Amino acid sequence: MANNQKIRIAIAGVGNCASSLIQGIEYYKNQEITYGLMHKSIGGYAPSDIEVVGALDVDARKVGTELSEAIKSAPNCAAIFADVPQTGVRVVKGEVLDGVAPHMKDRFQVDEDQEPVNVVDYLKSVQPDFLMCYLPVGSEKAARFYADAAIAAGVGFINAIPVFICSTPEYDKKFAEAGLVCAGDDIKSQFGATFLNRLLVEHMIERGFSIDNLYQLNVGGNTDFENMIDESRLSSKRISKTSAVKTVFDNYELKAEPSLRIGPSDYVPHLNDTKVCYINVRGKQFGDVPFELELKLTVQDSPNSAGVMMDVIRMLKVAKDRGRTGTVQEISSYGFKHPAVNVTETEVTKRIEAFLH
Ligand SMILES: NC(=O)c1ccc[n+]([C@@H]2O[C@H](COP(=O)([O-])OP(=O)(O)OC[C@H]3O[C@@H](n4cnc5c(N)ncnc54)[C@H](O)[C@@H]3O)[C@@H](O)[C@H]2O)c1
Repeated sequence: MANNQKIRIAIAGVGNCASSLIQGIEYYKNQEITYGLMHKSIGGYAPSDIEVVGALDVDARKVGTELSEAIKSAPNCAAIFADVPQTGVRVVKGEVLDGVAPHMKDRFQVDEDQEPVNVVDYLKSVQPDFLMCYLPVGSEKAARFYADAAIAAGVGFINAIPVFICSTPEYDKKFAEAGLVCAGDDIKSQFGATFLNRLLVEHMIERGFSIDNLYQLNVGGNTDFENMIDESRLSSKRISKTSAVKTVFDNYELKAEPSLRIGPSDYVPHLNDTKVCYINVRGKQFGDVPFELELKLTVQDSPNSAGVMMDVIRMLKVAKDRGRTGTVQEISSYGFKHPAVNVTETEVTKRIEAFLH
């Protein structure tokens, strides 16, 4: 049954992921098109029920710009697949804090003369259901700042990035005490390296194979990959991606702990938003004889995350409608690489189906 309510979101970080999400909201207004979506309707909410009511960024080329233009502004390079009409939302300046790494100063161009808004007042004025955190990896202070601002403004929070907020007991409690919902951390892709790797590992073990070692190397050419050249900013991403696979092993009794190396591996500018993932798994099959799997996956990075986000937003609104508070674990396990509760993909599907029905 259709739901007459809208889901209001505000976005912090109008980069490639935001571009794909906003284009997706427009693209799937055409109810005839269902391919590309995991769920056409969630609790009666269609993708077109998502409405962007606010946007914060710090790049001078986006601040002050109509959102429909800002999503196409440099350095964004995500594919353009929908013609987004004027949204009525102008991007405002948020707090920079540690959002812009020293080596990214030419890529994210901050104009010191542009005044930031008071983020809490801004959120109170635009009244979103949720604030989405789409900041660069390594924005430890900035991500917490926006999470705290959401709480102060009475707004739920969705954390797409690998700064550990919704997966911590501290923020679960903070959001619960404020009567708000949140979900995170680090958005999963619809069919990406992490999902594929988790499936492979689960099914290999279920079918009696043992794994000695595994690597997953990812390369890409967008600002997300460029930002992660600095290994110090990358550490939480490596933890998040590794734990997403390691926790699958944790569900089984193993002969020995496998050796894992997982994470973004290089920035290749001419790839733009194309991401290439190489997975290699070696281990033992029946009779303890060796096997090796070698796999390459090429996808467009940002639309791949938008498909999951479109589900997460609608699921979190359902949770809010039901009066849930704090971190919603079923949604976090479904949509994120670093939830507080990390189970196998088969178990994720069972739990989210139980939540939805
Ligand atoms: N498939 C995916 O693309 C995927 C998957 C998982 C997680 N993520 C994460 O989502 C986040 C966003 O990814 P993206 O590709 O859109 O990144 P991006 O580099 O395209 O965009 C980041 C945006 O944040 C803005 N920004 C920087 N500091 C800010 C601040 N203090 N306040 C407000 N805005 C600020 C930048 O100007 C830029 O517009 C990244 O952390 C990424 O790792 C992406």
